[in-house]
Amino acid sequence: MIIAVASDHGGLELKKAVKAHLAERGYKIVDLGTDTPDSVDYPVYGKACAEAVAGGKADLGMVFCGTGIGISIAANKVKGVRCALCTSVEMARLAKQHNNANVLALGGRTTPADLAIEITDTWLDSEFEGGRHLRRTNMLDEM
Ligand code: RB5
Repeated sequence: MIIAVASDHGGLELKKAVKAHLAERGYKIVDLGTDTPDSVDYPVYGKACAEAVAGGKADLGMVFCGTGIGISIAANKVKGVRCALCTSVEMARLAKQHNNANVLALGGRTTPADLAIEITDTWLDSEFEGGRHLRRTNMLDEM
């Protein structure tokens, strides 16, 4: 299982914390930047991660910016990507069960690292329920 990760400067520290946790769990990680605290533009990184997932270079993606909002908007511009910005464990569970989110967005300035890790684990460990939800995700993928 390969997970592509990307962040702007606002999400960099949270990305580092989550990456360390993913590595402990044995995932292969592809980090598409940014690597320094210098100010960068989140659309560049959201697009890079989303394209890695949509293009099959990664199985799942994770994106991080200050709030998770801008980079999730960017990721969702890429066809085939269903990016969910989650701020709670419940949202993470439903993002997988109902939306089959293939990219998770987190906010480095809004979500503490311990909660972000719980959200990440819940998203990774939950299963898509299919059925009526598959009809709806198919509709999303056709947009
Ligand atoms: C960058 O300052 C900030 O705007 C960005 O990280 C993010 O929060 C945008 O949605």
